[in-house]
Amino acid sequence: MGKDVIIACDFSSGEDTLKFLDNFTGKKPFVKIGMELFYAEGPSIVRELKKRGHKIFLDLKLHDIPNTVKKSMAVLSNLDVDICNLHAAGTTAMMKAALEGLTRADGTRPLLIAVTQLTSTDQESMERDLLIKEPIDKVVMHYAHNAKEAGLDGVVCSPLEAGKVHEVCGDTFLTVTPGVRFADGDIGDQKRVMTPAQAKEIGSDYIVVGRPITAAADPVAAYERCLNEFVG
Ligand code: C5P
Repeated sequence: MGKDVIIACDFSSGEDTLKFLDNFTGKKPFVKIGMELFYAEGPSIVRELKKRGHKIFLDLKLHDIPNTVKKSMAVLSNLDVDICNLHAAGTTAMMKAALEGLTRADGTRPLLIAVTQLTSTDQESMERDLLIKEPIDKVVMHYAHNAKEAGLDGVVCSPLEAGKVHEVCGDTFLTVTPGVRFADGDIGDQKRVMTPAQAKEIGSDYIVVGRPITAAADPVAAYERCLNEFVG
C-alpha cells in the first residue's frame, strides 16, 4: 500500500458514520474505526464498511497477555481489515503472538502496527505513573525498535517522530501519523501538529485525519485537500 489519507471516523454510531461517508459519492476513503464506534456497533460496522469498498484501519490498541492477544487478533483477521494495532508496551512476546494470531492459513494477514507511547503521555506522567525514567523520545524509539524486531510493519507516532523512526527502523517500516492540521485550520486539543504537506516532507506513510475532515463545512473538499497536499 502506498501513501494515503485515513479518515478517523470518530462517530458514536454506525448511522452517523454511514451518513458522513455518503458524502463521498464515487470515492472510497481509507477509514479508521476506533474503540468508540467499534464498541457501539461491533463487527457489523466493519463488515458494512468493507462491503461498501473502504479499506479499514481497526484502531483497538490491544494490550493483554500474549495468548489472549493472539486469539483476539485471529478474530480481527477474519474481519478482513487492512490494518490492526496494539500497544508495544505489551512486550515483544505479545507482539509476536499477535502476528501469529493475525496470520491466516494462506499466509496473508492485515498489517500490524504498534502504539509506542500515547501522545497524551508526557515525560512527567511517564516518570510519575509508569516509573520510566528515560527520556520519552528514547522510549518511543526503543518501542519502535522492539516492534520492528517482533516483525511488525510499523508504528503509530507523531509526524514529528516519523523521520527518526525511519532512521532507526528503516524506510520500509511504516509510520502512521495522527496530529495533522491544515495551516489555516483549528488545532483543537492536539498539541504537536503538522500540515499534510509537512507530514509528507518528513516521510509519514499514512496520515490519520479526523476533525479537519469530519467537522469541515465541506468534508469532501477537505479530504481532497489532504490528498493533494499529502499524496500530491
Ligand atoms: O480529530 P483528529 O484529527 O485530532 O483525530 C485524530 C485521530 O487519531 C483520533 O481518532 C485520535 O484518537 C487518534 N490518535 C491521536 N493521537 C495518537 C493516537 C491516535 O490523535 N497518539
